[in-house]
Amino acid sequence: MQTIVLIVGVASLLYGAVGSEQGQRIDQSQAAKLFARAKADDYMGDEYCVDCHAGISKNFKQSPHAALMVDPKLPADKRGCEGCHGAGGIHQADENPDVIAFRAMSPKESTAACMRCHASTLSDAHWKRSAHAKADLSCVSCHQIHPDVVPEWEPGSVQKGAAADPKNPVFTARIEPRTMLKADQATLCGQCHGPQVAEFRLASHHPIPEGRMQCSDCHNAHPNKNTKINRAADRDKCVTCHTEFQGPFVFEHDPVAGHTGAGCAECHKAHGSHNPKMLNSFSRGLCAQCHTEKLSRHYPGQSCWNAGCHVSSHGSNSSPIFLNP
Ligand code: HEC
Ligand code: HEC
Ligand code: HEC
Ligand code: HEC
Ligand code: HEC
Ligand code: HEC
Ligand code: HEC
Ligand code: HEC
Ligand code: HEC
Repeated sequence: MQTIVLIVGVASLLYGAVGSEQGQRIDQSQAAKLFARAKADDYMGDEYCVDCHAGISKNFKQSPHAALMVDPKLPADKRGCEGCHGAGGIHQADENPDVIAFRAMSPKESTAACMRCHASTLSDAHWKRSAHAKADLSCVSCHQIHPDVVPEWEPGSVQKGAAADPKNPVFTARIEPRTMLKADQATLCGQCHGPQVAEFRLASHHPIPEGRMQCSDCHNAHPNKNTKINRAADRDKCVTCHTEFQGPFVFEHDPVAGHTGAGCAECHKAHGSHNPKMLNSFSRGLCAQCHTEKLSRHYPGQSCWNAGCHVSSHGSNSSPIFLNP
């Protein structure tokens, strides 16, 4: 038994040595390998593709990407169809074509093929640390390059069975799709986050159904160089729009100022709520979650924030108990 372990051990040491010599090649993505194989005269230009892929070549002109990749000063491996799919000269158009076929690749390989050019938008490390990368999404889970290719929906991995249809948006007053997304955001994201999208149907909600906001106003679907790693919006984000509650106030209320608990989320739902003003609770239970002593000895009748009471519970410049602004 011990001998076998030893042999295996030695073998893997030897293999390790060989492996590290070739390490660089082993680590390369399929896309990088294909481009490494191409010689200068393998690049044929867009016209070459038209004969065999007429429809898609014609429609590609409407893709926002097309205009970004026509500049003749760009190196051949960053230009036109071949910038994404690889050099035409080595694309043997047979059963197993040597071409970058994003849909047929694993999510990691497909992402690597986009990242050849997008390292300036988001770094590899940014992407890999995002919840979406960890859940094995790829860039083409959300983005669509060719306007005419029918978008392929991934099976909703968070909520199954949500029959999202890009042509049939969940909210009709939606904002048009931007940034080459497969659909408007509520429909796209709702494919996998159905329960969260449904919260926007509650009586009090952020105006996504009305088309006045979208998910990316608060969330980074993926971080870029200017944003933090994929995480839910925090207090800083809320007060970028609700500046009146940013403070500083002469008399701060600890949870609003972010000193205790989850900030705004201590009292508000971020998406929507049955209660007015997206509150977690419609009455004094809201305040009693922290001010437990007030529950029995300090009964205000209605809510704690009706006229004459703590109407300025976000903070005040005149009243230490938030009776006035
Ligand atoms: C001589 C005809 C011919 C030419 C020229 C040609 N292709 Fe192809 N291509 C094919 C055939 C045949 C297939 C494999 C069958 C299929 O899936 O459509 C294919 C497959 C592909 C695929 C994979 C499709 C998939 O989903 O698997 C891509 C991407 C592609 N070609 C892009 C290009 C690009 C970009 C060019 C120009 C640089 C090009 N082709 C030039 C014939 C051609
Ligand atoms: C920015 C990268 C990019 C460029 C540039 C690009 N494509 Fe594509 N292509 C894709 C992606 C991604 C897919 C997978 C389908 C999708 O998500 O739109 C695809 C799919 C395809 C397919 C397979 C279609 C199918 O039904 O699955 C063909 C063929 C193709 N492209 C040809 C071309 C031709 C020809 C050009 C130039 C006119 C071109 N592509 C330019 C990224 C690109
Ligand atoms: C050959 C280089 C290249 C490749 C490969 C490439 N892109 Fe791009 N893409 C660009 C350039 C250049 C721009 C414009 C500048 C920028 O936003 O970085 C751009 C812009 C974009 C935009 C923003 C467009 C807008 O309207 O603001 C999206 C989204 C995008 N690319 C997605 C993708 C996806 C998804 C892939 C992989 C299927 C991909 N790209 C592959 C070069 C490329
Ligand atoms: C979960 C869905 C999703 C995935 C996966 C995704 N994106 Fe995006 N992407 C978006 C959304 C939503 C926006 C629009 C953000 C906005 O409008 O602020 C966007 C915007 C962009 C932009 C233009 C705006 C910017 O941030 O500069 C580029 C470029 C881009 N994505 C590239 C990529 C690349 C490359 C990948 C793969 C590494 C990718 N995306 C994966 C949803 C996604
Ligand atoms: C193809 C399915 C899919 C799509 C489309 C999708 N997501 Fe996700 N998303 C996931 C999965 C899987 C996770 C990780 C599991 C989880 O946290 O529930 C996730 C996680 C998240 C998280 C939690 C992040 C964290 O750090 O914990 C947020 C926020 C999110 N997605 C927002 C969005 C937004 C906004 C969009 C649309 C632009 C979107 N998602 C599109 C599948 C998807
Ligand atoms: C006003 C800002 C805002 C908007 C707009 C918004 N979200 Fe959120 N979202 C948040 C905050 C804040 C959280 C964290 C909530 C918490 O922890 O209680 C969150 C949490 C999430 C989560 C993670 C839930 C979990 O339990 O991990 C998902 C998924 C999500 N949102 C999806 C979406 C989608 C899809 C949209 C668009 C339809 C959207 N959000 C729009 C602020 C927002
Ligand atoms: C991108 C801007 C933006 C961000 C970020 C934002 N909001 Fe809002 N918020 C709005 C808009 C727009 C409305 C609707 C105002 C209206 O209808 O006049 C609103 C309304 C509200 C309301 C009142 C709802 C009602 O029924 O009257 C509350 C409470 C609220 N937001 C809390 C938050 C919290 C908490 C966060 C952080 C998780 C947040 N907002 C982040 C734009 C934003
Ligand atoms: C201690 C609980 C509490 C916290 C924490 C809190 N709020 Fe509120 N918020 C309330 C109450 C109570 C109301 C309802 C006031 C009313 O109806 O007069 C409200 C109302 C609002 C409104 C609607 C105002 C209007 O006039 O319609 C917005 C917007 C809002 N809050 C944003 C925020 C933001 C942003 C944060 C985080 C910086 C935050 N709140 C933190 C308790 C809280
Ligand atoms: C997440 C916990 C939390 C919630 C929820 C909360 N508070 Fe507070 N509140 C505090 C903390 C912490 C302080 C400052 C420390 C202290 O003295 O208790 C404070 C201080 C106060 C004060 C100043 C007087 C004092 O006791 O120091 C008033 C008045 C007050 N809160 C009212 C409210 C009202 C009204 C609500 C509901 C709208 C509410 N609070 C909800 C945590 C909370």
